Formats: sequence, C-alpha cells, structure tokens
Amino acid sequence: MVSQPLSHPVSSLEHGARADIEHDVELPETDLLSTFALRSVELRNRIVMSPMCQYSATDGFANDWHLVHLGSRAAGGVALAIVEASAVTPAGRITPSDLGIWSDAHIEPLARIVRFVQSQGAVAGIQIAHAGRKASTAPPWSGGGVLSADEGGWRVVAPSAIPFFEGAPVPIALDAAGIDALVDSFEAAAGRALAAGFRVIEIHAAHGYLLHEFLSPLSNQRDDEYGGSRENRMRLLLRVAERVRTRIPDELPLFVRISATDWVPGGWDIDQSVVLARALRELGVDLVDVSSGGTTPKARIPIAPGYQVPFARRIRDDADIPTGAVGLITDAPFANQIITGGDADLVLLARELLREPYWAHRAYHDLDEEPPWPTPYGYAVKRRPEPAMRSR
Ligand SMILES: Cc1cc2nc3c(=O)[nH]c(=O)nc-3n(C[C@H](O)[C@H](O)[C@H](O)COP(=O)(O)O)c2cc1C
Repeated sequence: MVSQPLSHPVSSLEHGARADIEHDVELPETDLLSTFALRSVELRNRIVMSPMCQYSATDGFANDWHLVHLGSRAAGGVALAIVEASAVTPAGRITPSDLGIWSDAHIEPLARIVRFVQSQGAVAGIQIAHAGRKASTAPPWSGGGVLSADEGGWRVVAPSAIPFFEGAPVPIALDAAGIDALVDSFEAAAGRALAAGFRVIEIHAAHGYLLHEFLSPLSNQRDDEYGGSRENRMRLLLRVAERVRTRIPDELPLFVRISATDWVPGGWDIDQSVVLARALRELGVDLVDVSSGGTTPKARIPIAPGYQVPFARRIRDDADIPTGAVGLITDAPFANQIITGGDADLVLLARELLREPYWAHRAYHDLDEEPPWPTPYGYAVKRRPEPAMRSR
C-alpha cells in the first residue's frame, strides 16, 4: 500500500472534517509484493518458483529431494511453487528419472510436498507434461543423449515422424486413437493432481515437447485435422485444455505454459500465440505462462535479461489474459518493474532460485518490506538492524 493524495476533493463531513479538502488515503498499488487472486486462489505476492526438472525420481515417484527442493523455496517466500514437468504417461518422461503422475500411487508423495508448501503460506502448483519426441534421454549431467533400449530408453511419439535433430530417433506419429488416449492421460493426471491437493495446475505446452510439437509447423506436418492450418495445429492443446478445465473445480485456476515463438522463420510465432491465448481464455484458462523456444536446436535465441518479457506483455495486452513472465529475471527491482509496468501479472524465476532459495525474502528486503518469515524464524529475526549496520 502507498499513501497517495486523493486527486478529487472529498465532500464528506465525517468526523467533523471540512468539506472539499484533500485527504491522504491508502490506495492499493500493484507491485511485486502485492497479492494476486485467480479464482479462489490468493497468492501472497507475484513471485513464482518456475517448474524445474530435478531428474531425481525413481519410477516417477517424488521423494525427499523434491520435498526439500520445493519446500525450501516455499519457506523462502515465493507465492507459488510449481512442481516440475510431471509426466502424464511413462513415455512422456524426458528422462527415466522424471517425476510422473500417470498412476494413483504417485499421489501421496506429491501430497506430502503440497502439505509442506501450504504450511509455509505458499500455494502448490504442478506442471503436467508429455515430452513427445524429446523423451527418452539421459539426465543433462550425464550428457543428455538419446537412450537406447539397452540403456532403458523407449520409442518416442510426436505429431509427425520428424526427428528433433538429424540423427535423433524418428518418432512414431500419433494416430487418432493415440491422440484420444493422450487427452485422457492429461485429464487423469489433472484428477490426480487435485487428489494430491494442488491448487494450481499448469499444462506444459512449451519448449518443444509434445503439445508444442503439435502447434509448430516445424514439427507438425500432419494432413489430418491436427495439422496444416493454425486452427488444426492448435486443436490438440485446446482439446487438452478443455478436458483438464472440465476436470478442475471452478474455484481453482488453470495455467498453460507456451513457447511464444520458435525463434525460427516459418515456425510458431508470437502472432499465433496471441490467437492461441485468446482461444485458451475462452476455454477458461486463467493465465498464460510465457516462455519461448525448444522446438529445434537450430533456433538462434537472443538471450538477454528479461528477453521473453515482451511476449508476456503482448499476450496480456492483445489476448486480454493474465500472463507470467519468465527468463533471466534475477533482481528484485527488475522483477518489480515487470509488474508495476504492466508487462505481466506474475514473475517466474528458475535458476536464480536455485542460486538463492530465499530470493523472495531478499526481494522483500530490497523493496523495504518485511519478508513472510517462517514462524520459527520470524520472532528471532524480524527486527532488522539499523541501516548503518546492514550489509546491503
Ligand atoms: C534445472 C532446470 C529444469 C527445468 N525444468 C523445467 C520444467 O520442468 N518445465 C518447464 O516448463 N521449464 C523448465 N525449465 C525452464 C525454467 O522453468 C525457466 O523457464 C527457464 O530456466 C528460464 O528461467 P530462468 O532464467 O529464471 O532460469 C527448467 C530450467 C532449469 C534450469
């Protein structure tokens, strides 16, 4: 809240006040630390932990690592912690060590994470995903190469039989029954996410994974109702969003992460993303989380601080839907400016939160507010030293 002089005169005589004088009143200001409500979910600030694969699961099951990874950022003050890409089918994993949500047995270890995240005043979200033709690889720290069957790999699927790069395995083009089964898998995964207690579900349609592969003419060269025109390429994601939306109660929001552009001429681009975002909004999607790239290793991406923010702005303005900005956002004043300037409604951080799990607390300090301390810390540290004694 900031104190601002009222621009129009107040003509009330309450409490003996003179008529037509200016009063200082508290007007809400939207900034990085202001709350944000989507349906019945209230976020305590605009800072979100972006989904980040940990490649640390066995058979898709969340474990202590995932609890600490997400739990520490929740204790560190983020408003929303989104669990990494969780595969809706075993073949939808990027690596054999991805999280999964394809069976009911996956629910309870995820519910444990939800309970802890919520106990810290944060909201727990989960990204549901299928890696398409980019599945069946080794974890990045083992080189990220394609896994053979002997190494525990599997046949990958995609809209068309076009490999991710020359020499990569040729995927199996999904047939109509395969597409229907995929839509069912996303819906079932959403049901399990709700059973685990997640209050935000995000559909992963970015980074060159299966749903993005259908959107992009680079990876989708089908000649049926799922390929060709923009409407046809959008069809699968819209079907998935519609089915997932019907599975989620009205009071809970649905996010979709997209790649706003392939960064390749003739590929998926921001104009198509605006049309897509409008269609998603019509289906009841509440926020578009705006990333980019991933369809082809040939893309030349002009990486720089906040380089994807203009896409979040464009979609917010032209599709009239809340957006999340992500990508090389590392300092609080810049993150704050994204919100105050109306570029996006939420700011998502990934790598900077790996470097600094308590980044959100630091942002509160930098913006001269008291961080939302966990109870066992707050009573001990709440009173900040005088400015002269502060290290920064
Ligand atoms: C270790 C790691 C894992 C990631 N896993 C996912 C993921 O599961 N889903 C996703 O949509 N993006 C994933 N990303 C991308 C991030 O969410 C984010 O969009 C990207 O890193 C840019 O943000 P940053 O500059 O703050 O890191 C991952 C990034 C990193 C560094």
